[in-house]
Amino acid sequence: MFEEYISKTPTSKSLHERARKVLPAGVSYGIRFFEPYPFYTAKAKGSKLYDVDGNEYIDFWLGHTALILGHSPPAIIKAVKNQLEKGTHYGTSHELEIALAEQITKMVPNAQMTRFTNSGTEANMYVTRLARAYTGKKKIAKFEGGWHGGYDALHVGVKHPFDVPESAGLTKGALEDTICLPFNDLEEEKKKIKNEEVAAILIEPVLGAGGGVPVEEEFLKGLRELCDEKNILLIFDEVITGFRLAPGGAQQFYGVKADLTVFGKILGGGFPVGAFCGPREIMERLDSRVYERPLFSFHGGTFTANPITMTAGLETLKILKDGRLINNLNKLGDKIREQLREIFEAHDIDVQVVGASSLFNTHFTRENIKDATAVFKADRKKLIDYNLKLIANGIFFLPTHTGALSTAHSKTDIEKLLSETEKYAKQNKAT
Ligand SMILES: Cc1ncc(COP(=O)(O)O)c(C=O)c1O
Repeated sequence: MFEEYISKTPTSKSLHERARKVLPAGVSYGIRFFEPYPFYTAKAKGSKLYDVDGNEYIDFWLGHTALILGHSPPAIIKAVKNQLEKGTHYGTSHELEIALAEQITKMVPNAQMTRFTNSGTEANMYVTRLARAYTGKKKIAKFEGGWHGGYDALHVGVKHPFDVPESAGLTKGALEDTICLPFNDLEEEKKKIKNEEVAAILIEPVLGAGGGVPVEEEFLKGLRELCDEKNILLIFDEVITGFRLAPGGAQQFYGVKADLTVFGKILGGGFPVGAFCGPREIMERLDSRVYERPLFSFHGGTFTANPITMTAGLETLKILKDGRLINNLNKLGDKIREQLREIFEAHDIDVQVVGASSLFNTHFTRENIKDATAVFKADRKKLIDYNLKLIANGIFFLPTHTGALSTAHSKTDIEKLLSETEKYAKQNKAT
């Protein structure tokens, strides 16, 4: 299974041996490790990653799906180079943070005000606190398979089986106010929260780490009604879907409004970022001049809204704001999902190609996939095998993870994905 990959990556192999001595698992984020060892990247440009052995990979992982314009897009690099001369980190207020917040307000429904963070994890942590502060209620509900970063209160029910703790070191206390709900199942959900005082329901409109499963529109509408009925804040975690599904994210794509929205990834234009936004009435809880302790809800951070990230984010949103590129990517996404399905079906391989917009993943199962349980029940070994075969032939998906499209992907890149998939399907034809 690994022979082809190992023969092409000797320098990565030795770098991994070196890395393992100083970085747990030889990586800086556990999910970046894959068997037998990850390749080490030397540079990246456009749709491609280049490893230390000189191998080229068409990149569908795109920096955890953040790089919708591909690697190092010229417009962003130019703007950032210009900003580098003016300072990398001020630690004071500056105009770029206003401009980016204004741009978000223009594009995203219900986003009158924004606060920036350095990661999606932080944004979800602060939005959770804000929801509790605003509603005066303690419980937070999230969905099985939903990944919102490593913040204790949300780090539950990510992987199947959902009742096994996701990490050592999570205390009972940290999780006792978190409720885990089944995805795309409104009736079950109503039952689960019936007797609970819930401050907010946090949902990823497309489960990213949970396998690329999109929310069903009717379910999302029902969820909105349920939240209105019970005075619960509906929070969209759009760290993946934001500025990808539509210029206004999942709210625009599905036609359902959130009370608060969380962003990350694409918003940073290739630099670290997170943000949470909402109506003035809620966001003003973060203003200590309006709300004094104990009513005030804290948010902060040394590198928040640093001018490099703000510059890159602003340039990125300017490129995406009219929706033209996003629409093209959405059409391409629909087409690729269809073509991948056809290839596997032609070889009698049971497969579900899931996703929405320019996000997609392949699960080897007959079962229709509407939640993360079905994702984890599918044949993951087969998926890893397929992903590794692609990697050995110059196409990178982080094994088992949801892939994404960028405006840098060419027709040839997509044709190669399809032809390598065809080869894989032929070799693994059902007998
Ligand atoms: C939907 C979602 N929310 C939150 C996060 C956490 O963001 P970060 O890794 O920037 O902390 C991620 C990261 O993958 C994510 O996919």
